Formats: sequence, C-alpha cells, structure tokens
Amino acid sequence: MKKNISMEISPKAKAFIEKEDTYGAHNYHPLPVVLTRGEGIYVWDVDGKRYFDFLSAYSAVNQGHCHPKIVNALVKQASNLCLTSRAFYNDCLGPYEEFVHKLFGYDKVLPMNSGAEAVETALKLARRWGYVKKNIPENEALIIGCEGNFHGRTITIVSLSTDPDSYKDYGPFTPGLVKIPYDNPQALEEVLNKFGDKVAAFLVEPIQGEAGVFVPHDGYLKKCYDLCKKHNVLFVADEVQTGIARTGKMLCSDHEGIRPDMVILGKAISGGVLPVSAVLADDEIMLTIKPGEHGSTFGGFPLACKVAVAALEVVVEEKLADKAEYLGKIFRREMAAIKSPFVKQIRGKGLLNAIVIQPHNGKEAWDVCETMAGLGLIAKPTHRHIIRFAPPLVIKEEELMEAIGIIKEALKSLE
Ligand SMILES: Cc1ncc(COP(=O)(O)O)c(C=O)c1O
Repeated sequence: MKKNISMEISPKAKAFIEKEDTYGAHNYHPLPVVLTRGEGIYVWDVDGKRYFDFLSAYSAVNQGHCHPKIVNALVKQASNLCLTSRAFYNDCLGPYEEFVHKLFGYDKVLPMNSGAEAVETALKLARRWGYVKKNIPENEALIIGCEGNFHGRTITIVSLSTDPDSYKDYGPFTPGLVKIPYDNPQALEEVLNKFGDKVAAFLVEPIQGEAGVFVPHDGYLKKCYDLCKKHNVLFVADEVQTGIARTGKMLCSDHEGIRPDMVILGKAISGGVLPVSAVLADDEIMLTIKPGEHGSTFGGFPLACKVAVAALEVVVEEKLADKAEYLGKIFRREMAAIKSPFVKQIRGKGLLNAIVIQPHNGKEAWDVCETMAGLGLIAKPTHRHIIRFAPPLVIKEEELMEAIGIIKEALKSLE
C-alpha cells in the first residue's frame, strides 16, 4: 500500500501559522510545520507527530533538544539570579570565562548574545587592533571577507554580503570592507600584496554554511592563515555555525591545525537554550578595547554563563566531535550510494552536510523537504536548490540510518 506522505496541515497547525502571518513580520519562509516540543534528536508538532530534526536550529542544538544537564543548569540558575548587567561583578561570569580559556586556549573571552553581535565585536576588535597595534592611519583600516559569506544581519555585516537578499535596499553601507572569492588563496594574496599595510583582518567561515555548505579545498585555511601572518593581518574565523563539534572537531579550524587570531562562537555554545555568543582572542587584541568602549546589557549574564558551561561540558563528556566525524562519514557514504535523479552533489564535513538538488519532474528542494516532513524528518532548503542536513550530534548510528531511510524514501517517491 502506498503511504500518504504529503504534508497535511491540520486546522490546529493552520491557526498558529495564520497568527504568525498576521501579527509577525514576514522575514522568514518556514516549512509549514508547527512545533511544540523537543527532546534529543526529535521534535513534535502540535498534532503529536514526531520528526527527526535535521536542521538543529541552524546547528544551535548540537547537544540535542532540552538536554537534561543544560536545562538543569538553566532552571537552577534561573531561580537564583538571572541578570546583573556588567555594572557589577557576579559569581558566574569569571568561572565561565576561565572555563572557556581552558577549553579553547585563548587568553580572554568577550561574551555577547547573538552570532551577529559577536561578528560585529570581532570587527570592532580587528579595527581597534589595526589602529593601536598595527598603526594603520586613522579611519583607513580594511577588513577582507569572502563572497558568498553569511555572518549575520547587521548593517555592517550585510555591507560585506554578496547576497542581494541580505543587502538590497539596506544601504548606504559600511566602508572599509573588501570582498574576495572564497576558497581562493591567490585572491587573498593579491589584495594583501596591494593593500596589506592597511588590512586589519581577514574574516572567513571555515565552511560556508548558509551559502549551502561550501567546503573549501584542503589547505585553504592554512594558506590564508600563513598569508595573514606574513602581512601582519588578523585571521578571524567565524565558527558560529561550524564550531562546537559540528564538523567533527571542536572548531572547524582544528582540521587544518591552525589557531585563528580570533574565533567567533555562537549558536551551540549554549546548546540552543539561550542566545549566547563569544569572541575569543589573546590579550594583545582583546585588551585594545577598554572599559566603556564596548558591551551589551545581557552579554555574559549569569544564566548564559551557567548554561554555556553545561553545554560545553556536554560536548566534551559525550565526545560529540568524534561522533560527528564518524557519523558524518556514514551519512555521506550512504547519500553517495543513492541513485536518484534529484541528487546532483553531496558535500560536507562531520555532521554539517548538504545535498545539491537537481530539479526533476517539476519538483525541487522545497518539495523534497515537504515530502521528508510528511515522512517524519525536517530539513530546510537553503538557496533554493540545496538542502542542508545537520542533525543534533547526539544522534545514534541506528537512528541516523533510519533517518537516511526517510531521505531515500522521499527522493524515491518524487521520481
Ligand atoms: C557563520 C555564521 N555567522 C554568524 C551568524 C549569525 O548568527 P545569529 O543568527 O545568531 O546572529 C550565522 C547564522 O546563521 C552564521 O551561520
């Protein structure tokens, strides 16, 4: 008997969708699934249907939904002290900063909330360092970024974007930003040879996640890092999506044995429980910003500190990096074995993977995602023809195989 795998939207779900549509800004285009509960690798919709979560809130939920250790840390601290502001000391921030220092090996951490804020913070630090340490003439510092990047949504960040959806009609844009092709060390070399004296930093995603999981060639990051060192330019890794074990190492930069001058973290640093982000750097960079020159009311608030320590402990205790490395290989092997007219390319590292969909029979990535949702697995197209697959890293091998079965069935049913 043929299973009914179309996505049916119940009246209950429809009511929630209509409310968002009516009263919320239309700045997202969600799959029509209305979720109400999450546990580990699964989420449930308002009609009680269970799904494998293969987006993990854009890799923020690496530790799985509502991880008991992280939720316990949240609840315990929430009933004790939530927010102090940085006008006073508290007994959570220092221990959290020490923990992060020991785990990642940087002198200091600057705590923020969203990924975009942490990117902005890194850009400010880079410019400041450029003026006070590299002696770049006032207001002439340059920051180099890559085409196809995604670093968030602020005006400065979208000034660096090459995606019209991100920047169109948001000008005038922040000056001092240079865009070069991704995965092209020669392009970096050319800009550095020409303007190196004025370049403060090179900002790069070790894998371009939002762009569709573009994995650069082996050695790309190392070559760029060496070029930065040669020209006294800061190498800044945006690990908001690739960090915290997602790609099979604690940081994606670890795959190439490099130590970025600054690391930007977000998303899974809190296990997806709270918006927590951070910039890591050594004193020579971090101490260029003095009291009163940067901050955020919530940055490093007690609740965030306790949650982030618990979330990072989970990553270490449950060996999530090793799991991502091992299971990622299985995922790509199984996907490569699929004979489907829809599958054009499979790429990824660890458990950050994507399939490039070749439209077929008038069906494209969105239809594949709807069909998978009908079968109990949610993922989302990025840039129309690419589907990202990023399950929580706590997934077990047999669960991954079951999920792969769903992906195969969805593709088959649309042929
Ligand atoms: C690499 C990267 N940097 C920054 C961000 C922005 O993070 P947030 O959405 O928390 O501002 C994202 C979000 O997807 C990202 O993938």
